[in-house]
Amino acid sequence: MDYLLIEGNRPLHGDVEISGSKNAALPMLMASILSEKITHFTNLPRLSDVDFALKILVELGGNVRMTKEQSSISAYVEFTDQANCIAPYELVRKMRASISVLGPLLARYGHVKVSLPGGCAIGARPVDLHIMVMEKLGAKILIEDGYIIAEAKKITAGDIVFPFVSVGATQAAMMTAAVADGISTIRNVSMEPETIELGNMLNKMGAKIKGLGTETLTIHGLNSKTLPGSSTPIQILPDRIEAGTYAIAAAATRGKINIKNAIPEHIEILLYDLKESGAIIEKTSDGFIVDATRMDKIKPVDIVTAPYPGFPTDLQAQWMAYMSVANGTSTVTEKIFENRFIHIGELFRLGARIKHSGNVATVFGMPKLTGAPVMATDLRASASLIIGALVAEGTTEIHRVYHIDRGYERIDEKLKNLGAHVTRLREG
Ligand code: EPZ
Repeated sequence: MDYLLIEGNRPLHGDVEISGSKNAALPMLMASILSEKITHFTNLPRLSDVDFALKILVELGGNVRMTKEQSSISAYVEFTDQANCIAPYELVRKMRASISVLGPLLARYGHVKVSLPGGCAIGARPVDLHIMVMEKLGAKILIEDGYIIAEAKKITAGDIVFPFVSVGATQAAMMTAAVADGISTIRNVSMEPETIELGNMLNKMGAKIKGLGTETLTIHGLNSKTLPGSSTPIQILPDRIEAGTYAIAAAATRGKINIKNAIPEHIEILLYDLKESGAIIEKTSDGFIVDATRMDKIKPVDIVTAPYPGFPTDLQAQWMAYMSVANGTSTVTEKIFENRFIHIGELFRLGARIKHSGNVATVFGMPKLTGAPVMATDLRASASLIIGALVAEGTTEIHRVYHIDRGYERIDEKLKNLGAHVTRLREG
């Protein structure tokens, strides 16, 4: 197993190119199941989760051809009228996002058996809203032996109101209602850029989805089993969470990074909080620059995570690492996942001082952190440990970096290009 060795306490400087978005790519790859045509994807990030998603599509009977370029993957995905509509536990437990095959398989083939994903480091993460969506759109659902078994001769339109915003359940409703018989109205939906991008892709494939980026979607179903498909390539948008992670790393190390191929509007609230903390943000033609070289002290700034356009929960851990060297006390409130403070224990090991009760963590800023061996527990927790290590005096070892490879493309290489002293080593 790989681990990273980071010698910290040096500012990051230079350019970094942001890769395609993991959280846009995964549901969009699954949506290609609905297409009559071959779907051509470009700018897919080179991540283990994307490789895994392509593997799942092959397991389900898809024809997948891909070409790997230096920093992205292009893939051609084709589904026909024959498929294997079972997503087994062995696959789903490794990547819970595979639950998003439920809607497309049910819509196209009328029956599907998908393993329940089970628990996750950051929370229970039930899929009851996904099941509610399928039932509202006419499916018969059985839960048996840890599997969701869904049947629907025909998808019928329905009105859905989500009790709270769910990215995944909104995306499931969009993919399924797109081929329904009739008009569906979906309220209190996700407005995340990744959800909008999936909607744009479905519309490019012939769907009729209105209201993307608002709280209510109106979907005129095509009353069919498939969507005509897109005759032009589907390009994956830049990863706003990757961009946000490098932005926080620039501020925390008092460096200056030109973040290229990024859309600053997708992380407006983060850029606002970075400015509040004392960093200078300058938008450019293909991204933005974070300049913290003239920052005397890091001002503490409180955050509360929320659905888009609120502060992304996927940047909460990274922000906490930053606030652990702020000049004063701040609070971090996690409102999306009930167990997303695991990184606190590991930040302690770097000398951070953080107290938490319930979903509120109080961060007492320290003048410095010190390197130590730490353990990654999930994708974003590992990103926060990397930021802590880049700030810390001395050497930090970060173990279980397979977590980070799921969501950050070639992170050690990109950090090296920014002047960081990072080495990837193999244990044993
Ligand atoms: C997506 O997960 C992202 N994953 C997550 O990113 C991200 O943290 C999350 O949205 C919130 O922004 C992908 O896009 C692949 P939700 P998702 O449904 O769709 C509860 C990362 O680090 N809920 O919006 O699973 C749920 O437990 C990952 O890249 C139910 O109770 O998130 C959570 O508390 C981590 N029942 C809340 O809703 C349901 O049926 C929001 O979850 C569905 C969700």
